[in-house]
Amino acid sequence: MLWTVDSIPRQNGRIALVTGANSGLGLETARVLAEKGALVILGCRSLKAAKRTRRQLLSEVVPANIDILKIDLSDLSQLNSATYQLFDNYPKLDLLINNAGVMAPPLTLSRQGLELQFAVNHLSHMALTLRLLPLMARQSAGRVVTVSSGAQYMGTINWRDLQGRENYDRWSSYSQSKLANVMFSLELHKRLKESSVDIASLSAHPGLARTNLQSTSIASSRAWQEEFVYKLINPMFQSPRMGSLPQLRAATDLAAQSGEQYGPRFNFRGYPKLCPAARLALNSQARERLWVISEELIGNLVEISEGKKILNTQN
Ligand SMILES: NC(=O)c1ccc[n+]([C@@H]2O[C@H](COP(=O)([O-])OP(=O)(O)OC[C@H]3O[C@@H](n4cnc5c(N)ncnc54)[C@H](OP(=O)(O)O)[C@@H]3O)[C@@H](O)[C@H]2O)c1
Repeated sequence: MLWTVDSIPRQNGRIALVTGANSGLGLETARVLAEKGALVILGCRSLKAAKRTRRQLLSEVVPANIDILKIDLSDLSQLNSATYQLFDNYPKLDLLINNAGVMAPPLTLSRQGLELQFAVNHLSHMALTLRLLPLMARQSAGRVVTVSSGAQYMGTINWRDLQGRENYDRWSSYSQSKLANVMFSLELHKRLKESSVDIASLSAHPGLARTNLQSTSIASSRAWQEEFVYKLINPMFQSPRMGSLPQLRAATDLAAQSGEQYGPRFNFRGYPKLCPAARLALNSQARERLWVISEELIGNLVEISEGKKILNTQN
């Protein structure tokens, strides 16, 4: 049987934070969760875009419960202040959708001097998750959904040059960050399970979906040949609504289990189904190594000690 929006149970009483919620898959995820009755917090780097999106959703979804959070994932040092209001204003957090992403820009550095895709797609989402674990642990059956990509299957971790300092390739760095998403998701699953914490960690990949991701990538890299390729393969792309189904399934399907990944039926399009994680993400030593490096890079910039305590990983 096909899994559609109609398969999603009511979400009344649940609180969800979606990063990158002002466009594309994040916007659709926020819309559907609001339609199903969740209180949705739109995590956006631009307050203006967040307010506009909130107004839009409130006019389209009646009734809807929508809040906003300004969060820029390219600067780790902002994550503490950005998230204080969550601890102050909400009794709990049921769903964290690590969705925001940037694809294949020319070499760009985060505020901390880290390669942007590694920083935004992987590192900040890991920091955000560890930061918010105490809020999520206040109730049972929370879920963390980390959005990856089909690029995970082509990705490798360049241990020698993680930040692309010696030799930056914008597509290899994107694939690396998307493989890192799955490695993080699986390692989090393992650690939550070992600590007997009732929070699930799943990943999802959307296949090909028509969003701002492609146009932003072309505009930043001026790779007009890629624009031509996108035009050629345009019919293969799905709507953002279809593209958001795997992450919605990972977030809401009562039968979904921690450690699983959902993706489109035909890998690049189709209704969501269980799909295997990239082979390299199954290597537990590599996952552990990435986790340790990532924690070091997060350092003291984000208050994650309570989250680490929950995972029993605090030294
Ligand atoms: N669309 C696809 O075919 C496809 C395929 C595979 C994987 N994905 C993954 O799906 C996820 C969602 O992408 P999308 O397709 O929906 O693209 P999108 O429409 O471009 O959405 C990306 C979102 O991420 C936000 N973002 C970018 N940099 C940020 C930062 N520094 N801090 C906070 N937010 C930031 C963007 O904010 P602004 O609007 O302010 O830029 C936007 O809201 C990404 O993780 C992407 O890798 C998409």
